[in-house]
Formats: sequence, C-alpha cells, structure tokens
Amino acid sequence: MSTPAPLDLNNIQGDILAGLPKKTETYFFFQVSDVNRFRGQFAKFVPSVTTTAQVVAGRQAIQEHKSQNKEGLIPMAAVAVAFSNAGLIKLGITDDLNDAAFTEGQLKGAENLGDPGKTTNGVFSPDWEPEFKKEIHGVIYVAGDSILSVDKKLIEIKLLFGVGLPGHSITEITSIRGDVRPGKENSAHEHFGFLDGISNPAVEGFDKTTFPGQDAIAPGFMLLGHETNNSSKPQPPSWAVDGSFLTFRYLFQLVPEFDDFLEQNPIILPGLSRKEGSELLGARLVGRWKSGAPIDITPLKDDPVLAADPQRNNDFKFENELNNNDQSRCPFAAHVRKTYPRDDLEGPPRNFDIDNRRIMRRGIQFGPEVTLIEKAEKKTHHGRGLLFACYSSSIVDGFQFIQQSWANTPEFPLNAAGKSGQAGFDAIIGQKKGGGVRTVNGTNPSDPTTNITLPNETFVVPKGGEYFFVPSIAALKTKFAAAA
Ligand code: HEM
Repeated sequence: MSTPAPLDLNNIQGDILAGLPKKTETYFFFQVSDVNRFRGQFAKFVPSVTTTAQVVAGRQAIQEHKSQNKEGLIPMAAVAVAFSNAGLIKLGITDDLNDAAFTEGQLKGAENLGDPGKTTNGVFSPDWEPEFKKEIHGVIYVAGDSILSVDKKLIEIKLLFGVGLPGHSITEITSIRGDVRPGKENSAHEHFGFLDGISNPAVEGFDKTTFPGQDAIAPGFMLLGHETNNSSKPQPPSWAVDGSFLTFRYLFQLVPEFDDFLEQNPIILPGLSRKEGSELLGARLVGRWKSGAPIDITPLKDDPVLAADPQRNNDFKFENELNNNDQSRCPFAAHVRKTYPRDDLEGPPRNFDIDNRRIMRRGIQFGPEVTLIEKAEKKTHHGRGLLFACYSSSIVDGFQFIQQSWANTPEFPLNAAGKSGQAGFDAIIGQKKGGGVRTVNGTNPSDPTTNITLPNETFVVPKGGEYFFVPSIAALKTKFAAAA
C-alpha cells in the first residue's frame, strides 16, 4: 500500500469506510417540504450523524465486549444522512458533482439498468413500488444492535424535524427496515443462503491490513476530492470533498423459486448426488459455496474452514483462465466474477486497472425467513431480499458500470479480452433490457459448452432505489444547515 495523505476520520460519515455496525437498520426516505425550516432543524440534527472515528471506536468496543465473553450486544444506534440530486436542487445547491447517473436519478436510469417495466407514450416506468416513483430528496439511515435502539434514535430524529406534526420541514416518503437474518447459521448470509460481505476493497490510508487477494485502492475511489490513479478526474466543488455517492437498491429475492431452479437443474458429475449437483450449480452461479469458500480455490467441494479464514477466502484471481477459455473452476458469468473479474482484466496480457470499478458494499437483508408453505409450493408469498447499498466516488464508473456493462452483458468478460462468444448473464443480478431469454454458459465444470437457460422472471427483482450523495460532516454544517 502507498501512503496517501491522512484521512480526516472526524469529517467522513461513518458508513463509507468503516461500515456502521448493525443487526438492524432503517432507511427513512424523505421529501423536504419547507427549505428554510429544514435548514434550521438540520443544524440541530447534524451532531447526531456518526463519524468514521466514532464507528472505529464503536467497533473496538464491540471487539473488547466479545473478547471478554460478555453477554448481549452493546446498545448502539449510528446515524447517516444523504441527499439525492433532486434534494440538492430543492435546497438550492446546484454545483455539478460530475456524475451523470446521480444527476439523472435512478428512476430515470432504471430502463438502462435493465429493470422490468412498461413504456407508455414513449415514457418508461419501472415496476417499482409507488413510493420510489415519488421525488425523494434525502435519506436518513440508522443502524444498531436492536430495533429498540434504532427506533428510539429515529423517533428523536423525527421529532427534531417535526415529522407528522405542525411545524415539520420534511415529510416521510417511506421507511424500510433491514435485519440480519436470525440464527448463528444464517447471520451474515443473504437470503439465497450464501455468506455475504466477504470481499470489499481495502482503502489506503484507512485500512491497516490488506488480506491476500484483497485489492488496496486509493481513497479517491471512495471519497470525492482524494487521490486516484486518474489525474483527468474533474475536481469536485470544495464542499463535496470527503463525501461519497451512495447507491441504494430495493432488491427482492425469489428464494423458493431460486432453490427450485437449483433442484431441477443439478450438475451431473460422477460421484455427485443430485443434491450435491444442485449445490454445485448454486456455487457456480455465485462463484462461492454457501459457506463463502471461493469455487476458484475449491471447485468441486465446499470447504468451510477455508471459507472462515480471511487469509485464504479471498485469495484467488481466475489467473490465466480467461486466456485459456477455461471455466472448469469458475464460470465467467459467476456473480463474484462478473462483479469483480480480477485477473480476467487485471492480469496479463491486458493489465487493465479496474480500481475505479470497485464499490464498498454495505447492504442488509430484509423480510422474513422462507415459510414451510413457500418451500412446499416453491413460490414466494412474502417479500424478502437485500437492501443493497454501496459507496464509490463515481456511480457511473462503479455500480452503474458493473450492473450494465458486466452483469447484464453476456459477452463480458470475453469481449474485454477481444474474444468473441458468450459468457452469459450474471444469474443473480443480470437483467436483459426489455426482457427475453437469459443464459449462463459454462455451468458444467467438465463440459464448457453447456449453457443453462434462466427462468423469464429474474431471481432478484428490483422494486426501487435512488442515488444519493453522502456529504462530509463539515459540508452538513456549512452547506446544508442554517448558520448558527
Ligand atoms: C439480491 C442481490 C444480490 C445478492 C443476493 C448478492 C450476493 C452476493 C454474494 C453471496 C457475494 C459473495 C460474498 C462476497 O464476496 O462478499 C457477492 C459479492 C459481490 N457482489 Fe453481490 N449480491 C447482490 C447484488 C449485487 C449488486 C446489485 C451488485 C452490484 C451491481 C453486487 C456486487 C457484488 C460485488 C462487487 C461483490 C464482490 C465480488 C468480489 O470482490 O469477489 N451484488 N454478492
């Protein structure tokens, strides 16, 4: 790691680099109804926003609590705030943050993300929840150890803004709660059952360790106004320094349908039972076993010990496989390969620099566990999924590019290597604009020519979202709050 200028951890909001500690998190989406009143009330709210320094201290306290085998969790409620482009405009902030996706807003960009929807009189409208079709100005999100801690903090915040009372400055558009899944076995696993949150980049000047296989990126890929390896990047307005962009996606997961698909399409290999063949298909669609073990290291058999070892569970690169057209260890279209192709792009002979494609993922699950009836009927009756959230200093280069040019593009990564042919769609998040047949290629490790056709309805269904800017603490005080 090189050593960039030290970061001001008291100025950067806490979720971006350090991740708010959370068992539960509520996103409160709002519209500003009275700008002047808002600025005054916002000044009183700013001290509640959690800094990176506070999150680091909180995480240390959690570590000590755990190492002393103390019971229960430390009560905690950490707060973050972010504004959409419509929100900035509402507040009279018209500086260009140089991100076309942010400026356009996610609703308008949904068609190009491949979200299903309808076009009427030439206007596309995604099949989203109605709340996300309204103009959202901002989001306050609170994460903590328990619903009690989070709700208490949220009530304090709502009272500050007078939400629902005479004298309010904001109105609630919707609130969505996410929760870590229950039980030791499921916690940290997303609803399809796979361990999540294993691979995020390390950030130079913040993370003290980089694990084998983990990329260390310059802070400028996460924070505006900081060093990157791209000198042509326009300088942001000074108040935007130390801020970051947040991509929020409300993603529903059709779990019984996904499980049924795996059951119906086991990979047939000598020595594998049908159930093991289904588990192998799941692992090859994601790129990791449910335990988190990467199939590029352990292609035919899960290895939970490897999965739990941070020195090894990220230490793979798909080295030379693309050059050799070899998908025997991991399909080119596996979710983790589509979203971070490692040596497919970074390795020789291409040696592309893809640090600008890295995102910091901070999602949380929502909705109940699959019920016995859903399991029996192989059909979703209750909404569940992922409140997908990620940070980067550019939505265009980060989330939007990953979704559109990688996950949704069947030619990728072969096209990046100048090869023709199809790798297929990312089976987890890949969408085809306008719908239609999606295939994943190379799913059978012993037969690279096998393609599998995915069901028409995607396993992950987007129902809303927005792009936000997460200002620094200084900017919250000087640009958003009324002067004292
Ligand atoms: C419900 C939707 C999603 C599910 C179930 C899901 C699931 C997973 C799982 C199980 C992993 C492996 C664990 C890890 O490496 O931390 C992963 C990694 C990842 N996902 Fe997703 N994901 C979803 C949506 C997305 C979206 C929308 C994006 C971005 C467009 C994305 C980008 C990534 C990235 C960048 C990685 C890390 C790859 C690596 O560094 O090896 N995911 N996801």
